[in-house]
Amino acid sequence: MAKRPDHFIVAIDGPAGSGKSTVSKLIAKKLGLLYIDTGAMYRALTLKAVRQGLNLEDSDRLADLARSTRVDLVNAAGTLKVLLDGEDVSGLIRTPELTNDVKFVARVGGVRSEMVKQQRAIGIRANAVLEGRDIGTVVFPDARYKFYLDADVAERARRRHKELVESNRQADLAAVKSDVEKRDESDMKRSLGALKKADDAVFIDTTDLSIDEVVEKILSYIK
Ligand code: DC
Repeated sequence: MAKRPDHFIVAIDGPAGSGKSTVSKLIAKKLGLLYIDTGAMYRALTLKAVRQGLNLEDSDRLADLARSTRVDLVNAAGTLKVLLDGEDVSGLIRTPELTNDVKFVARVGGVRSEMVKQQRAIGIRANAVLEGRDIGTVVFPDARYKFYLDADVAERARRRHKELVESNRQADLAAVKSDVEKRDESDMKRSLGALKKADDAVFIDTTDLSIDEVVEKILSYIK
């Protein structure tokens, strides 16, 4: 599909807890862009695999599943709805168990190539903000704007812990920090689509910045 000359992508990558989801949503809202949470796509696919009782070590079955699954992201009234084959699974894909299982699915080459294909197809429909791990490096290496958000692991764990407490989930800060570290490791060491700053991405350390400050910083590059 030919790209319109005025079409552009904002790529926002970074590890869990770097603030990229909240920031990406706000940037999309402020600029009237489509918001694409690519992590939600991997999460929804993982939910389907778990429900079907698939062996998460079976790469071929997981890749087949990716090719026969439809995940739609619907931006509705300021929130993102995630539809798995038409079913709203927005809440179900955020549990700690599911979060832990995603890494088995996200490391499979056949899954990633299908997801990347779908993400490109959605991204070229409209000017869009895509957030994930490999947007600036793999999905849209020619994105007009690229950002890589990061923060100290202790601060990222604190943010994640706060989110869990606020959603009435049991959470121990030390355990949350250890989970975040494990996720970093699996995201960075995966052989395909690993979490990595693109050479031409703007690096933003969000440790001591408020959400608004991060948003302002990003907007200062886009305007
Ligand atoms: O951003 P998130 O925490 O919702 O991502 C969920 C998982 O999906 C995480 O383990 C990393 C993986 N992921 C990925 O491999 N590639 C992406 N583009 C986005 C997420």
